[in-house]
Amino acid sequence: MNTNDRQILTPFDIGNLKLRNRFALAPMTRVSATESGNATQAMARYYERFAKGGFGLLITEGIYTDRRFSQGYAFQPGLTDEEQALAWTAVTEAIHRHESAAFAQIMHAGAISQGNRFVTGTVGPSAVQPKGQQMKFYYGQGQYPVPKAMSDEDIADAIQGFANAAKLAIGTAGFDGIEIHGANGYLLDQFLTDYTNRRSDRWGGDVKRRVGLILEVIAAVKKVAGQAPVGVRISQGKVNDYEHKWIEGDASAEIIFGALADAGVDFIHVTEHKAWQPAFSPGNTSLIELARRYAPAIPLIANGGLDNPGQAEQALLDGADIIAIGKAALANPDLPHRLMTDQPVRDFDPAILEPIANIKDSEF
Ligand SMILES: Cc1cc2nc3c(=O)[nH]c(=O)nc-3n(C[C@H](O)[C@H](O)[C@H](O)COP(=O)(O)O)c2cc1C
Repeated sequence: MNTNDRQILTPFDIGNLKLRNRFALAPMTRVSATESGNATQAMARYYERFAKGGFGLLITEGIYTDRRFSQGYAFQPGLTDEEQALAWTAVTEAIHRHESAAFAQIMHAGAISQGNRFVTGTVGPSAVQPKGQQMKFYYGQGQYPVPKAMSDEDIADAIQGFANAAKLAIGTAGFDGIEIHGANGYLLDQFLTDYTNRRSDRWGGDVKRRVGLILEVIAAVKKVAGQAPVGVRISQGKVNDYEHKWIEGDASAEIIFGALADAGVDFIHVTEHKAWQPAFSPGNTSLIELARRYAPAIPLIANGGLDNPGQAEQALLDGADIIAIGKAALANPDLPHRLMTDQPVRDFDPAILEPIANIKDSEF
């Protein structure tokens, strides 16, 4: 890689937070916490490799937020009490040792939870059975059950859970920022999505109303986060419905990104299978370009197949500020250093996630 004029190597600020470059580790669930949801020493060493390898920002795997319906997977880490928050300090300290920043991704699995030690059954916006099959590599099997439609009280609890988790993340665990998981088919995306949200109350209806829960969660999290950046991850595709497109097309992009900007998020993280492709068909504008158009002043993280330096630089030209890398980082925890020093990059081998997607001994 010719390191001259590579924008990806230049520093970037999200609010008060200074990042040393624009390489971010994408959030990746690795079901490697203890059964009670505590982050482990192995996780600290696993995350440290990415910081040491040159990623300026590390976004954690999705962390559950409450002791009711948020947990999605057995051995998923949580941020629901002091003990879980303290367990994360080993991770954040390891990341900070290498001058990288750490964001906690906080998530509620909603109707696609497939492992929850606190409650039986699942909840969602409406009693609609999720598409797809549970993920085997996260200990799942068969179809997802039909969720219970959430009551006002359930929704209030979920919002409170996000706020509590964010408070523990910043106040105790040592994270530098919060990413609210609004993407990929989990609870907040279930509210955003036409076919999973059939509500006729204030939380359902057109896309303006369906984005409402995300906005409430942003407001609740911002209240407790102090100066720390608070952002949100948004996608069209879902873990249980890869090809989903927003039914209102470009008009939804305008409403969603505009509403997030108005809510005062410090960053937006967009993810698509191939981030550079047109977001809608017919069309020739990517979700990166749409986010930049409709939320012009908000720092933008882009993700999805952007591990090739040319494509990453193009995404920056298209309006992204930071490039998040998932699978290629698993294969190359030192990807930024490799690219900077022209070393070969290893291909991602899906076997690393088999039979269970937990962290393997070779990864730390
Ligand atoms: C093993 C694995 C776990 C993932 N877990 C999460 C997660 O917890 N939260 C999330 O937002 N995305 C998750 N993702 C999606 C990635 O963040 C990313 O969007 C996806 O891998 C595409 O980016 P890539 O082409 O750079 O790999 C996961 C992906 C993988 C491969």
